[in-house]
Amino acid sequence: MDHQSPASYQTAVETAWPVGLGTGPGRILLLGPPGVGKGTQAREMERLWGIPHISTGDVLRSKVTQGTSLGRLAQGIMKRGELVPDSLVCEIVATRLQEPDTFCGCIFDGFPRTLGQAVWLEGRLAELGPGSSIIAVGIRMAHKHLLRRITGRRTCPMCQTVYNVYFNPPKREGLCDIDGAALVQRTDDSEQVFEERMRAYEMLSAPVVGHYRALGRFVSVNGDRPIGEIAAEIASTVARLRQ
Ligand code: AP5
Repeated sequence: MDHQSPASYQTAVETAWPVGLGTGPGRILLLGPPGVGKGTQAREMERLWGIPHISTGDVLRSKVTQGTSLGRLAQGIMKRGELVPDSLVCEIVATRLQEPDTFCGCIFDGFPRTLGQAVWLEGRLAELGPGSSIIAVGIRMAHKHLLRRITGRRTCPMCQTVYNVYFNPPKREGLCDIDGAALVQRTDDSEQVFEERMRAYEMLSAPVVGHYRALGRFVSVNGDRPIGEIAAEIASTVARLRQ
């Protein structure tokens, strides 16, 4: 159900974003519960548009791996499925937004995750000067279907390719198709921690959707479909809103 031929998939996504559109997509936020496919779609959008994907979760995991002081602080919080304090994640994003590759647009994945982060981001972008306003894309899916996305996820520690043992398994069990490295499972991808992450999402992150909806800058897509179909809908929706 989740697979499309690479050619039809590519064509659908590229048709959805006409080559002659002339402008980039600007700043896009992907919002949604754990496992709904934000990272997967962000990587598709990054490939299509050539603008960077900023994932606060990925940055935090790399800090944990590197053993930095921020990583040591974040490690326990992430293992419990709670949110890292706003001040720390805002600092990560502030640093990233100084890099020139973000000036023409970027895709935020997993940020902002609280109203405080959303308000901070609006202020930070205003300080950075004129640019296109944010379009927030919410990806939705029934809670009962999210668990297999989470418990089935495996990642290559070398090239970061993401697989799913149920929906998108590697050709050889447990090994990356690209470099043959042994795939790993995230420490927060257990059923128990997933429930905590859902609680944190419903309490702290769902209001962020209301924030962007009230600003008239929110669109919602169904995440319970093949990856390419979702990517094509996001691309066509963003193209329509940017024209
Ligand atoms: P983060 O890494 O952001 O995790 P998350 O939001 O819980 O989201 P996930 O990465 O689990 O899922 P996803 O929606 O990206 O799904 P994916 O595309 O991988 O954050 C982790 C932790 O860091 C947080 O709990 C918190 O502690 C901390 N943190 C991060 N940001 C923070 C912030 N701003 N403030 C405070 N704390 C923060 O897909 C999942 C699986 O499904 C994969 O296996 C994939 O292959 C598969 N899949 C995807 N799409 C499809 C599809 N259409 N069909 C079939 N399978 C699919």
